[in-house]
Amino acid sequence: MNPEKSPETAQLIYGGKTYELPVVEGAEGERAVDISRLRKESGLITLDTGYGNTGACKSAITFIDGEKGILRYRGYPIEDLAEHSTFLEVAWLLLYGELPARGELDTFLEEITQHTMLHEDYRRFFGFMPKSAHPMPVAAAAVAALSTFYREADTEDRIYRAVVRLLAKMPTIATYAYKHSIGQPPMYPRNDLDYASNFLYMMFGTPCEEYSVDPVIARALDLLLILHADHEQNCSTSTVRLVGSSLSSLYATIASGISALWGPLHGGANQKVIEMLERIALEEGSADLFLERAKSKGDTTRLMGFGHRVYKSYDPRAAILKETCKEVILAVGGSSRLLEIAMRLEEVALSDDYFVSRRLYPNVDFYSGVIYQAIGIPVNMFTVMFTMGRLPGWIAQWIEMRNDPAFRIGRPRQIYTGPQERPYVPREER
Ligand code: ACO
Repeated sequence: MNPEKSPETAQLIYGGKTYELPVVEGAEGERAVDISRLRKESGLITLDTGYGNTGACKSAITFIDGEKGILRYRGYPIEDLAEHSTFLEVAWLLLYGELPARGELDTFLEEITQHTMLHEDYRRFFGFMPKSAHPMPVAAAAVAALSTFYREADTEDRIYRAVVRLLAKMPTIATYAYKHSIGQPPMYPRNDLDYASNFLYMMFGTPCEEYSVDPVIARALDLLLILHADHEQNCSTSTVRLVGSSLSSLYATIASGISALWGPLHGGANQKVIEMLERIALEEGSADLFLERAKSKGDTTRLMGFGHRVYKSYDPRAAILKETCKEVILAVGGSSRLLEIAMRLEEVALSDDYFVSRRLYPNVDFYSGVIYQAIGIPVNMFTVMFTMGRLPGWIAQWIEMRNDPAFRIGRPRQIYTGPQERPYVPREER
């Protein structure tokens, strides 16, 4: 659906002239001032550091109402998808706009299953990485390296093949990176297992003994992937759009999204959450004490997994995960100590004026780490799990961008604050 041109306009008065700026309205009533002709007509650009008020594109993929805590993929509430769908079904929905018909889904699953293996030459790539390397840069480099093995996704058919390859190979890449880091041989994928079960098998299986996947854990993992599958124009997705807008390779473009996701203020937060909970458990033991530090102006400590640029109420994904957390811990018989600390932190924070007045609530990362830990995923793999989930969203956004009739290379402007022109100082005079 194309955004409506609203009959309203916004007026900008500058330099004694009034500029009429068109207002566009999205499907859910959100409005934007269209400034695409502003510089041409008035010489002005807009300044919005961190892009908090800037719409970079029109998109029909994901809708978020951060005030009300709403998240929908292609119109479907995240709660319904979490309850009824599977990750690959959701991937199709994000990529192609509709829930797949049964035949479409069967073919898609079949094709993904057929492409899970990595080329044997490519396997050697992992051997060149230091064992101590964090799996995120290894995953980013490995995905970029796919572009050295496969042709550019430059036709509809090749794009479909690249989509299948990326979705199929990502769990294999992730587990190869992990197995290399612990000095174990990688496990080949198994075509008789579903997506999440196959990942768990490659992650925890060894050639020495049979590994059987617990269906409760496989379902929890599939759910986590669904909840991470897209989140409109966040840091990594905007990176994917920006890099992709230069018509760079899809594989290299996705690698740039992985790099952006790695940071602790974005996807890396789930790792930081568990480190924070463990630190509280070990050193301080008190949620209240930690919160005092997070609130203190002179202290850089933040309550990790809390706050969000868009959600100014409870992140709906965190609400779903809080319940899943309890189920998983019950199923694996794991320790609930970290979950208890997390719930206590949440309880205290949500009744504290500092967090309430700034509208800081748990985000998706607050509980996801507790689940990953309960199912035995090592902490440095948490963000890799997020990467697997976000993959279809990144690709869907990339496809949408390429098909946009208004497509052009991304190129923000700036307000220059450096020195004005000055004479060059020769080396001997400095
Ligand atoms: N703990 C303590 N104080 C916080 C927190 C937090 N987690 N988050 C924000 N604040 C405070 C800030 O200090 C600031 O206070 P001030 O107004 O007194 O200066 C105010 O709340 C606003 O914070 P900003 O940093 O301006 O908010 P912004 O929208 O830029 O940042 C962000 C959002 C990065 C997510 C931030 O809330 C944060 O750092 N959270 C912790 C990291 C985290 O959980 N990241 C994961 C996000 S979800 C995701 O990417 C998948």
